Amino acid sequence: MWNTVVLSIGIVLVILRVFKILRLRSQLPPGPSGLPILGNLFQIPTSRPWLTFDKWTKHYGPIFYLNIAGQNTVVLGTPKAAADLLDRRANIYSDRPDYVVPNLITGGMHWAWTQADDLWKRQRRGAHEALSVQTAKEYFPYQETESVIMLDQMLTDPEHFFDHFQRASTSLTLSIIYGWPPLLDSAHPNVLQINQMNRQILVAAAPSSFWVEFEYFKWMKHLPRWMCAWRRNAEKAFGYHSDVLEGMSADVQKRIDAGDESKSVVGKLLWDSKNLFEAAWNSASIYSAGSETTASQLAWFMQAMVLYPDAQRIAQEELDRVIGPDRLPTFDDYEHLPYIRATVKEILRWRGVAPLGLPHRLSRDDYYEGYLLPKDTICFVNIWSLHHDKEVYGDDAEHFNPGRFLDANGRLKSSIADTKDEGHHSYGFGKRICVGRHVANNSLFIHIAFLLWAFDITAQVDEYGKHVLPDSSQCTEGLTVRPTVFHCNITTRNMEVAEIVAQAKADRGIGS
Ligand code: HEM
Repeated sequence: MWNTVVLSIGIVLVILRVFKILRLRSQLPPGPSGLPILGNLFQIPTSRPWLTFDKWTKHYGPIFYLNIAGQNTVVLGTPKAAADLLDRRANIYSDRPDYVVPNLITGGMHWAWTQADDLWKRQRRGAHEALSVQTAKEYFPYQETESVIMLDQMLTDPEHFFDHFQRASTSLTLSIIYGWPPLLDSAHPNVLQINQMNRQILVAAAPSSFWVEFEYFKWMKHLPRWMCAWRRNAEKAFGYHSDVLEGMSADVQKRIDAGDESKSVVGKLLWDSKNLFEAAWNSASIYSAGSETTASQLAWFMQAMVLYPDAQRIAQEELDRVIGPDRLPTFDDYEHLPYIRATVKEILRWRGVAPLGLPHRLSRDDYYEGYLLPKDTICFVNIWSLHHDKEVYGDDAEHFNPGRFLDANGRLKSSIADTKDEGHHSYGFGKRICVGRHVANNSLFIHIAFLLWAFDITAQVDEYGKHVLPDSSQCTEGLTVRPTVFHCNITTRNMEVAEIVAQAKADRGIGS
């Protein structure tokens, strides 16, 4: 009986939705025609969809429309369209899609996935203060320490360079957030727990995981609890994750009460809000958004070094000139290393880890270039297209070339319009722009300076003496990507590297 009623209501709602889209179609932006009900669902490849979107932008223009099983979606393919809507109309383009299961798993507390509501505003304000351009400087010592440990691990085990980047990224985020000492490996139970939560969220957010995530089936979220195993499981996961996260933040509170004065994001949030539950989830949101991205970006950097040895040589000449072989780079060298800073920008441009950014949702009807964008439309920016636009970045936009960010005197040029002084769009848009970008830029700077100071990164050679070059078009799948596994030679540039790193470890009291 219940099943029949539910099914009938469902069918009526799907039919109404299909008619609504058909009625509005002539006012919507152009786009590829799709199937009657499922729309363009099966035309979007799961692997590297940004390449198909790029072709559609060239065909349909700066904004094109997709019907993804009833979900109105637009893809913005030029910097102007992206900035016009997501930056300049940010007050209505800053919600996220209605992710039902991910928000149940996190109790709606993981603010990178929630709507731009009051909770999001509060959480984002707290995170912004803890990660602002000024506060980010307080984390320089942590970042230098992580670079020392990373070099040490690369010296003994260069093959698993990605694991070392991942450890450094996780460890830094935990030091900043919870005031933890550096982690020498990432297999800590709490880290595994948060990583598991991240995976659960990403799996739940993937289009085919749960019917309730499809627009046609959103009505399922109003079904009684006893009918939905997915709801019961997600709520159980929320209780479990909350216990662990609150425990981690409560430990920080205990340390503060015992007179520990070391700084941490949790400490600051607890001081400001006195709300353990909110502080616990805010911290977890920052950790989960920030722990993998920097490591993936560094993996792309390694690939660029193999493919573009000239860029590597220029960067090393700068490091040799400014620093020399007798000491490690530090943040004090920042102003004197423009080519390294340009390398950070170029790696984020050439292969940013989020080629389609994160989706924004429109909170009311809007018009752009004469087209209707209905309330609840999901907006993606094809950041990949923006970064490979020859009119903006020149004829060599396909290639890795940090020099494009420098003037004739080797100084950083002023930034391209609408890139918020970054020179690229990899940190997203409007009110949702990445709150951790200053920390990320600093981490990339110091890690890259350390890596190129210490190592030559070159292509492996096969049995016929030919260079084995990685294919930079191949990457993992998902909203954030890194290169598929590739191998390279990582060799120290001189005999003193190991000694200097060992001394730096000893100076910082780091064990093995
Ligand atoms: C190379 C490194 C990184 C890249 C490329 C990156 C990129 C992004 C992008 C594209 C977004 C979505 C922006 C949008 O919706 O328009 C984002 C959001 C976010 N990022 Fe990052 N990120 C990086 C590192 C970090 C780090 C290190 C942290 C924290 C320490 C962090 C914290 C966050 C948070 C909390 C959000 C959610 C913002 C919101 O929804 O309001 N990210 N990031």
